[in-house]
Amino acid sequence: MTKQDYLNQIGVKKELQKKIKNDPYRLGFHLMGPSGWVNDPNGLCQFKGTHHIYFQYTPFSPLWGMKCWGHYSTKDYLHFKEEEPFLYPDCSYDRDGVYSGSAFVEENQIHYFYTGNVKLLDKEYDYILEGREQNTLHITSNDGYTYDQKSLVLDHDDYPSDMSKHVRDPKVFKEGDDYYMVLGARDVNDCGLVLLYHSKDLEKWTFHMRIQTKNKFGYMWECPDLIELDGQKFLIICPQGVQQEKYQYQNVYQLGYFPIDLDLHNKSYRLKDFVEFDGGFDIYASQTYVDDLNRRILIAWMGIPDASYHNQQTIDCGWQHALTMPRELTQHKGKIFQKPIDELKNLRKSEYKELSVKQKEFVAEHDLIELILANINNDCFSCIVKEDIKINYEQGVLSFNIEPIGNGRTHRQMKIASLDKLHIFVDHSCIEIFVNDGEKTITSRFYSLKPNKIEIQGECDLELYQLDSMIIDY
Ligand code: FRU
Repeated sequence: MTKQDYLNQIGVKKELQKKIKNDPYRLGFHLMGPSGWVNDPNGLCQFKGTHHIYFQYTPFSPLWGMKCWGHYSTKDYLHFKEEEPFLYPDCSYDRDGVYSGSAFVEENQIHYFYTGNVKLLDKEYDYILEGREQNTLHITSNDGYTYDQKSLVLDHDDYPSDMSKHVRDPKVFKEGDDYYMVLGARDVNDCGLVLLYHSKDLEKWTFHMRIQTKNKFGYMWECPDLIELDGQKFLIICPQGVQQEKYQYQNVYQLGYFPIDLDLHNKSYRLKDFVEFDGGFDIYASQTYVDDLNRRILIAWMGIPDASYHNQQTIDCGWQHALTMPRELTQHKGKIFQKPIDELKNLRKSEYKELSVKQKEFVAEHDLIELILANINNDCFSCIVKEDIKINYEQGVLSFNIEPIGNGRTHRQMKIASLDKLHIFVDHSCIEIFVNDGEKTITSRFYSLKPNKIEIQGECDLELYQLDSMIIDY
């Protein structure tokens, strides 16, 4: 899909957008594709004051398809502008999709690294025969909207010889004078791992080391991100193929992190236990960046590949999936905490506060709300939203339910030693819950048009805000 192909089909996109307008499930304060399908956030960065949020985008269909990079820009996280897609699959190295990648800002330039997906087809029958090439490409931009030519920095010959055809999703960071790139990979023995490359100039990359667990932890790791918070490094990954457990790994694929002691110079590391970020049904493929305020901000895809459920109504209306709210990451005692970025407080319209609520049932007259339940009396607590979404805490286990259960969505349970606070955001068809100031989150789509009835059982202080929608200039 070249830029010209995109422009030629703009009528198809406009038709989808007409249908989308009538969908009550369209979200108020979450980014969705302007039309069609969205998955991973890509290339997150702040450049000359503007935050750039690119994303895996299929503009002409609400289903998985040929990917370009869609693009939103914002200066304040309240007003967004839809920009023209930034990257198209238009060269021999990325002809079957410009897959996920990241941005690295230095000296008035943005460097982007992404995966060029190439399917190797049998010429006679035209089906995938040989698998794929996953090329790592580099482009630079002086403005975030245009770029110079695409250059290939790594291809299959540069990956270790025991890699399968699955090596993708580059993310770059700097330590001292050196640049490093992490890539998600699957080896020929079907073990997931991260490959780490080194560069002195962002152009020439050489293999440095691999990072993997002693025992197999899934067959593929996607979307790696190596970050540092307050002196502690973390390796964020999306493992695929991890065995389900009662309180963990409930979704088809996961999103989480290893605290990691990493000595890049001596190529040694130690991974601590993997921690899942979230206990909800819909989260995957996060990416982080550091903004001008020095905050480490995470945005994730509010969806999961190969999930066994979807919502037919949004598909019929011409769109599918969304991104999470931006979350600021901090570190406490070796664990990552997530909190909604402060800008979201500007969405608040009206507020209601009540101390020491014991039992309460009320209907919030607005569809978009923020609910803070603090100083929770731990013993036994529950909160029901819209009759269908149930959060329950009992004996160290937090459970989360969305009715009707089924279709791949069952009950979710997670261990939380004590429950102090639930910070809940309800949009038209999704909910994000920050437990205990972000020790854990619960992120899920739901499809219910019931009024925002809230039922609280147990003691807490209550704050309720009506929220505005954010403003998107399409
Ligand atoms: C994760 C992912 C990435 C890939 C992209 C393709 O959701 O599968 O590994 O680059 O999506 O859209």
